[in-house]
Amino acid sequence: MEGHQAQGQAGHSDRTTQERFSAKGFIMAAIGSAVGLGNMWKFPYITGKYGGAAFFALFLICLLVIGLPILLAELTIGRGGRGNPSASMRRLSGQRKWGVLGGLAILCPFIILSYYSVVAGWTVHYSIKAFAGTLFSGVGYGQQFEELMSSWVPAFWQLAVMAICALVVGRGVAAGIEKFNKLLIPAMLVLLIMMMIRAITLPGAMSGVQYFLRPDFSMLTPTSVLAALGHAFFSLSLGMGTILTYGAYVDRRQSLSQAALAVTGGDVLYALLAGLIIFPTCFAFGIEVSQGPGLIFAALPVAFEAMPLGTLFGGLFFLLLSIAAITSAVSLLEVPVAFVMERWGWSRSKASAIVATACFMVGLPSALSVGGAVQGLSLAGKSFFDWMDFISSNIMLPVGGLIVALFAGYAWKQAADEAGLAGRAAWLWLALLRYVAPVLVMLIFLHSMGWI
Ligand code: PHE
Repeated sequence: MEGHQAQGQAGHSDRTTQERFSAKGFIMAAIGSAVGLGNMWKFPYITGKYGGAAFFALFLICLLVIGLPILLAELTIGRGGRGNPSASMRRLSGQRKWGVLGGLAILCPFIILSYYSVVAGWTVHYSIKAFAGTLFSGVGYGQQFEELMSSWVPAFWQLAVMAICALVVGRGVAAGIEKFNKLLIPAMLVLLIMMMIRAITLPGAMSGVQYFLRPDFSMLTPTSVLAALGHAFFSLSLGMGTILTYGAYVDRRQSLSQAALAVTGGDVLYALLAGLIIFPTCFAFGIEVSQGPGLIFAALPVAFEAMPLGTLFGGLFFLLLSIAAITSAVSLLEVPVAFVMERWGWSRSKASAIVATACFMVGLPSALSVGGAVQGLSLAGKSFFDWMDFISSNIMLPVGGLIVALFAGYAWKQAADEAGLAGRAAWLWLALLRYVAPVLVMLIFLHSMGWI
C-alpha cells in the first residue's frame, strides 16, 4: 500500500493531528527544543576541551553535513505521517516493523527527560540563589555544588520543572507549546545579547573572544571530530523523535527546507552568543575553560561575584539556562504524550499529567544519585544519572538517527516530494541520508561506546 493512502486512512483516528503550529510558532518551538543545556552548558565546556575555535568550526560543518539533512528528514517524516514517531513510520511505510523501530524514539526522550529535568532543576536553583545573593555568601562554589548534590533539593526542583512542562504540554500545541516558546525564545535572545555585551566589555575579555573565534586547526584530534559530530546531533535535538513529533503539527504549506535552515541557524546563533558570554568571562577572570561539566556551576560564579552588578548578571545567566532547558524539556515531554494520546485515546491533559509523573519517578534516582541519598546506586563506576545519560545519549540517540536516515533515505519513497525537494537538491539530500549520515552516525556510536 502506498504511504499516502495509508496516511489518509489512519488520519481520522489520529487525535494529535487536530492540532497545528503557526509557521512562526513552529520555528520558535523547534528552536526552543534545539537551544538547551546543550548550547549553554555542554557546548562551552566541550569547546574548551576539544580545541576552541577549531572545534566550533568543525561543529558548524557537522551541523550542515549531517545535522541539517537529518533534521529535514525528521520534519518530513513527521509531517508526512502526521503522528508520533512510531505511528508516522508505520503509516508511511505500511510496515509494522518500522512502527516498532519508531517506538525507540519514544522511549529515548522519556529517559532523557528523566535526567535532563534534574539538570534543569539545578539551573533554577542557581538562578534563585544568585538573585537572592546567597550564592555569593563566601562558601566555595565547588563545595556549594556538592552540598546541593547531596541534598533532596534537586528532587524538589526536578518536580517543579516537570510540573511546568506538564502544564505547558497539557494546554496543547498552539495554546501551550507555541505560546510558551513564542514568548521565551525572543526573551532569551534579549538576555543573551545583554549578557554578551557585559562579557565582552570586561577587561581582558578579548583573549576569550579570540580563543573562541580564531581557529587553530592543529589543536584538533580525531576525537574532536567525533565529539563535534555527536554534539551537532544532540544540539539539534535529533534522533529522539522530538523534531519528528513537532513536524506532525506543521502546516502543509510551510516550506520544510526553509524551516530546517531557520532552526539550524537559530541553534548556531544561540550557541555563538553563549560562547561569547562564557569564554570572555572565563578569560577575564582566569577561569580554566577545559575543566569539564562543572565549569558553569562550580567555576563561573567566581566571575559573577567579582564583576559589577554580579548578582543581577549571575541571576540572569542562570535564568537563561533555566529557560533554555525548560523549552527543550517541553519538546521531550511532547513525544511520549503524543504517543499515549494516540495509542490509548487519552486526553492531552491526562496524558501530560501521567507521563510527567512517571518521568519524575524514573528521574528521582538521577536527582539523588549524583551525591545524594542513592549515591550507592552505581554500577561499573557510573551513577544512575550517568547510566541514564549514557544509554540515551550514547546508544539510543545515534541508533534513532540511523533509523531516521535509513527510513527517509531508503524505505519511504516519497520522502523528497514531501520535503519539497526536486532535482539536484533532492539528489544531494538523499545521498547524504543514504551514504554519508549512516557512516557518520555509526562512527559517533562506536566512538561514544569507547570502541574507536
Ligand atoms: N537540543 C537540546 C539541547 O541542546 C537537548 C535536547 C535533545 C532536547 C533532544 C530535546 C531533544 O540541550
